[in-house]
Amino acid sequence: MPATVLVGAQWGDEGKGKITDLISSNFEYVVRYQGGNNAGHTVIADGKKLALHLIPSGIMYDHITPVIANGTVIDPKVLLEEIDMLEREGFSTKRLKISGNAHVIMPYHRDLDGASEHRLGKNEIGTTRRGIGPCYQDKSARIGIRIQDMLDENIFRQKIEVALAEKNPILSKIYGLKEYTVDEICDEYFAYCERIRPYIEETGQFLNEALNEGKNILFEGAQGTLLDIDHGTYPFVTSSNCSAGGAVTGSGVGMKHIDRVLGIAKAYITRVGSGPFPTEIPLEEEASQKLLNIGKEFGVTTGRQRRCGWYDAVIVKYAAEVNSLTDLAITKLDVLSEFDTIKVCTAYKCEGKTYTTVPEHQSVFHHAEPVYEELPGWKCDITGCRTFYDLPREAKDYIDFIEDHAGVRVSLIAVGPSREQTILRRWK
Ligand code: GDP
Ligand code: IMO
Ligand code: MG
Repeated sequence: MPATVLVGAQWGDEGKGKITDLISSNFEYVVRYQGGNNAGHTVIADGKKLALHLIPSGIMYDHITPVIANGTVIDPKVLLEEIDMLEREGFSTKRLKISGNAHVIMPYHRDLDGASEHRLGKNEIGTTRRGIGPCYQDKSARIGIRIQDMLDENIFRQKIEVALAEKNPILSKIYGLKEYTVDEICDEYFAYCERIRPYIEETGQFLNEALNEGKNILFEGAQGTLLDIDHGTYPFVTSSNCSAGGAVTGSGVGMKHIDRVLGIAKAYITRVGSGPFPTEIPLEEEASQKLLNIGKEFGVTTGRQRRCGWYDAVIVKYAAEVNSLTDLAITKLDVLSEFDTIKVCTAYKCEGKTYTTVPEHQSVFHHAEPVYEELPGWKCDITGCRTFYDLPREAKDYIDFIEDHAGVRVSLIAVGPSREQTILRRWK
C-alpha cells in the first residue's frame, strides 16, 4: 500500500474529509494535490469538529506529515488562519510541508472571480469566489506567482509589477473595481511569507524519498470527478484535475507507487453551484427537504444550500472508469433511513435514446432524463451499526446494488458523521 488516492466520485462534498481522517491511521503522509480553499472538508473526531480548507484532513494524528503539494493554489491568508485555528484547537502544525511550486492566490484573483461571476449573471458557474479559477488561469498562462517567488523580495516585487500592469486595467476599466499598488500587495504578502517560510519544502522530492523508505502516502482529493476540468461537466467545473490523475501531476510522485484508488460517494447525491444534475429533486418536494435537513446539506466553505438528488449509478460508474477506482466508500447511508423507498438512477433517456454511460455531448447531458429503479427502504436507525451484518437487509441490498452497478467493491460505509460511525467492510 505505498500510495492510495482518495477522490470524490460525484460533485464534491461526498465526505472525503471524514474518510481521509478515518483511514489516515494507516499512512504516514497525507497530501493535498489540487484545488485550494474552495474545498471544505469536515472531520469529527475525539469530540472535536474541524472544517479544513487547505490543510490535509490527516492533521489530527500526531504521526501524520501533512503536505500541500505543487498542484494546489494557496491563499496565504487563509492558510495562516487555518494554521492558527488548528494550533488553538491543540493540533500541532509543525510537520506541515508546503511546495514552493504551488501557486499563490492574490487579492485580484478573488476580485476577478467575483466580478466574472457577476458578469455571467444567470449563466454564472456558482464558484466559491475564492479566486481559484483566475489563479489557475495565470498558472496556465505562465504569469502566475508561486510560493517560492515570495522568498525573494526583488523577484516578488518584479512579478507583481508585471501582473498588476495587466490586472489593474482589467479590474478598473472592465469591472469598475479598485486597482492595487505594488507596495500594498508586497507589504501584505511579505508579512505572510515570514510565517510561511519554515513550512516550504521541495515536496516532490520529499515524498519520493518517503516512498523509497517504505512509507505510505494518502492523496486527499478535493472537489469531485464531475467537477474535474477535463472529465467533469464543463464549463460547470472547477479549474483543476480533481480526479486521480491529478495526484501524479499535482505531487511529483510517479504512477507506479499508486496501488489503490478509493472513490467516495454519498448514498444519494448533492451539488453546489450551477450545472446539469439529472437526478436533482426539486426543492419543493418532500424528498429533497428530507435530504437537505437530515443530511445537513449546507456548504462548509460558502454556507450555500446544496442541491439534493437521488444516487446516480451512471455517474459513479463513470467515476470508477476515469479514476480506475479499486474501492468505493459509501457515506451518509444513515440519511436515507427515513425513506419508504429509495430511487437509484441506472440510465438516462434523451430524445428517445437510452444512455447507460455519461453522454459526451453536454447538451445531451443537460437534457438527460433519469431512468430510476426503486428499492425498499429500511426505516430504522442504522447509526449504531458497526459491521455489514448489523445493517438491515434492505440497507445491505442497497449497498450490493450500488456495488454491482459501479463494478467496484464497496469497502467502507459511513453511517454517521463521526470517525467511529463507519463500517470497515473490506478495507484493510
Ligand atoms: P467533503 O468536502 O467531501 O469532505 O465533505 P463535506 O465535509 O463538505 O460534507 C460532508 C458532510 O457530511 C460533513 O458535514 C460531514 O460531517 C458529514 N458526514 C460525513 N459522513 C457522514 C455520514 O455517514 N453520515 C452523516 N449523517 N453525515 C456524514
Ligand atoms: P470539496 O472538496 C462542492 C464547485 C463550486 C462551483 C464549481 C467551481 O469540499 O468537495 P470554484 O470556486 O472551484 O471555481 O467553483 O465547483 N466546488 C465545489 N463543490 N465541493 C467542493 O469542494 C467544491 N469546490 C468547488 O460550487 O460549482
Ligand atoms: Mg466539502
